[in-house]
Amino acid sequence: MCGIVAYIGHRQAYPVIVKGLKRLEYRGYDSAGIALLDGSLKLYKKMGKVAALEENVIGKSLDGNIGIGHTRWATHGEPSDRNAHPHMSNSGKLAMIHNGIIENYASLKQELIKKGYRFSSDTDTEVLLNFIEDIQKNNGSTLEEALRIALKRVVGAYVIVLIDKDNPDTLIAARKGSPLVIGIGKGEHFLASDASPIIEYTKEVVYVNDYEIAIIKSDELILKNLGNERQTPFIQKLDLELAAIEKGGYDHFMLKEIFEQPGTIYDSLRGRLDVQHGTITMSGIENNIDKIKDANRILIIACGTSWHAGLIAEYIIEELCRIPVEVEYASEFRYRNPIINRGDMIIAISQSGETADTLVAIETAKEQGAVILGVVNVVGSSIARLSHAGAYTHAGPEIGVASTKAFTAQLAVLTMIALRIAKERNAITPERYLHLLQELHDVPEKVSEVLEKADLIREVALKYQDATDALYLGRGYNFPVALEGALKLKEISYIHAEGYPAAEMKHGPIALVDEKLPVIFVATRDAYHEKIVSNIQEIKARKGKVIAVITEGDETVTSLADDVLPVPAADELIAPIISTIPLQLLSYYIGVAKGYDVDKPRNLAKSVTVE
Ligand code: F6R
Repeated sequence: MCGIVAYIGHRQAYPVIVKGLKRLEYRGYDSAGIALLDGSLKLYKKMGKVAALEENVIGKSLDGNIGIGHTRWATHGEPSDRNAHPHMSNSGKLAMIHNGIIENYASLKQELIKKGYRFSSDTDTEVLLNFIEDIQKNNGSTLEEALRIALKRVVGAYVIVLIDKDNPDTLIAARKGSPLVIGIGKGEHFLASDASPIIEYTKEVVYVNDYEIAIIKSDELILKNLGNERQTPFIQKLDLELAAIEKGGYDHFMLKEIFEQPGTIYDSLRGRLDVQHGTITMSGIENNIDKIKDANRILIIACGTSWHAGLIAEYIIEELCRIPVEVEYASEFRYRNPIINRGDMIIAISQSGETADTLVAIETAKEQGAVILGVVNVVGSSIARLSHAGAYTHAGPEIGVASTKAFTAQLAVLTMIALRIAKERNAITPERYLHLLQELHDVPEKVSEVLEKADLIREVALKYQDATDALYLGRGYNFPVALEGALKLKEISYIHAEGYPAAEMKHGPIALVDEKLPVIFVATRDAYHEKIVSNIQEIKARKGKVIAVITEGDETVTSLADDVLPVPAADELIAPIISTIPLQLLSYYIGVAKGYDVDKPRNLAKSVTVE
């Protein structure tokens, strides 16, 4: 988390950086700050969003062709002006921004305090900055040398960017574990956590690798490893348009992204799914099909919403391919000495491709010889680059902090992967295979039909906006949909919500049910339909309020539920992609009705680059 932007070149740095920080606010918005170099080193920082910083600098000197900026998601030290980045070194010569965590900051801080250093924030960043300054002072070395020495002693993850009053024509950056993209313009360079602050200036970018240091002047980019050896920058062309990262007339990014789903799901299927010829072609899978089809076991690793996509994939892969699947929280997997056997395959699912826990988990698995398949949205991201093979989800940039379109695109891609493997293993009948291809092909159309009912969903949302708790229940393929529905409600409306397998309710959560508790059932027609109808009866018998996502025309559930959210009929294996849409809209409308900033819910950040 945290967004960083830096600029060096012929333009005024301030407007470039502020605009870039706004694009990166999804990564954290506890405070924002900027440092500009124009003879003197000017530092402005403010708690809150970038808009608060802008207000704070009105009337102040903002000149300078070199600068660094930061939007923070607090780790060490509460959100406040003093903990906002950039930080200034004790001498006042250096300023630095940082995304990541320095784990051994406490011992380094003690060392520095003994030497007389003073700290004006609670951050690990200020410690690292003064540690670098101290090495520079003691060794009489250049900033670059001091940085190299410091980074060898640092434990943790970072992207840092430094400016130095004594070298006003140079930015120095370094990366390990957190993302850094450098945009290459004519006589100018742009640095950012992702490409969104860069695309309107240049499409030529370099993704800096772990353990690399970048020395950047207006017209020169030098990359070195920590051993001081020059590295050749690999320049890539961005495949991203500015319109894709703007709101396009919607009130919020979240709403825009929910409504984009017919298009994004279509994009994830396009060129891969061919119903007419009965084929699925995904080059990353094709090139590794033997290893994949013969996998003894598949481990799916992810966090949050992506983990929910993994749970649905588990059901689908086991059903279609008959390969055992385990779904792991990346944060647990990485620390519990997991058993990885020859022939195991890992599927890592991530929207951002930068989630620290997922990244480290797959690094660990890779070291132990596992084959890594990445299902990632952000092209060129760390997880995508670390994977042996993979399939991009092609959902386009997701800016709203709550994941929506990335989730449905993940489901579309994972279903295609399952179908492709099932076919290769002869584990599926040709009829079922072709039927599911057609069902998948029809999803964008069905999602459009659900979106046409947005007003009805809004009305239901308004009825329940004052709830303090909610229970989400589903069975089979719809159980992870219930988990995802509960997560969306928590994130966006701050209403406590829990997802459960509907039958598990009787083992505890049913105690919560009273006339005030909304219970949201994902009850589309499937093999367990009669069972879930019984569960609905059990809730009604205890006076709970039932809201049910149903298959259009389901009179049985309609007669029982207080409110229904109908979706078009679909095969039970494909239904989660469709039945999740009304739950996204329900959370969105409740969050908006409560007056919350749904694009930037409190305490959250889009890209969780710290563990
Ligand atoms: C929920 C949400 C998070 C992410 C999680 C993983 O709406 O966005 O739970 O799903 O942080 O992020 P990625 O998919 O980027 O690895």
